[in-house]
Amino acid sequence: MKVVALNGSPRLLGNTSTAISVVLDELNKNGIETEHIQVYESHISPCNHCNSCEIRGDGRCVIEDDNMNNYLDEIKLADGVVMASPVYFNSCTAQIKMFLERAGRVCQFGNFPLKDKIGAAIAIQEHSGGSNAYAELVNWMLCNQMVVVGSSPICIISPKISLEHEKSGDAVILKTVANNMTRQLLKRNL
Ligand SMILES: Cc1cc2nc3c(=O)[nH]c(=O)nc-3n(C[C@H](O)[C@H](O)[C@H](O)COP(=O)(O)O)c2cc1C
Repeated sequence: MKVVALNGSPRLLGNTSTAISVVLDELNKNGIETEHIQVYESHISPCNHCNSCEIRGDGRCVIEDDNMNNYLDEIKLADGVVMASPVYFNSCTAQIKMFLERAGRVCQFGNFPLKDKIGAAIAIQEHSGGSNAYAELVNWMLCNQMVVVGSSPICIISPKISLEHEKSGDAVILKTVANNMTRQLLKRNL
């Protein structure tokens, strides 16, 4: 079983990476293989509404000079997907938004290849807008007919809290998400 995390931060070693690492480490402890993808590394282009994905319906985007199709291939092969983004002006980042729009359109016209996969979202909020960014990521997964797991409180993480503290509230939330994902994944493989 494998879970792929998509990181929407342009900072490769930022707070989003740290939060994702907590989730992926916990998944690893539970015996699940993981991969961490930083969408910024590929400078994903925006959707140009060419409608090729609708015409071809093959689940691929016509723009082949970035890694969007490769990332999509990775999550199509995965059993679970973690979508994570820092909050930028009360929203998720432009970097991940470009992925969401391109991949979402391609999947919509490609027979929903992510349907029934287990998803989870993480938003990193310094002061405000976390609910909005979190909802954007969750809504994208729901539009793709995925099954989204959560936590209580929901996974909106503060960059100020040290995740190294095993018992910090944020670490507990992130590990809860990982364990809820694990349980759903294991149920399917009974
Ligand atoms: C352009 C920009 C806009 C931001 N807007 C918000 C915001 O609306 N709300 C908020 O809580 N934090 C905001 N932040 C702070 C980031 O969410 C915060 O620094 C976060 O930890 C960055 O994640 P990273 O370390 O993974 O890059 C903004 C940061 C930048 C660079």
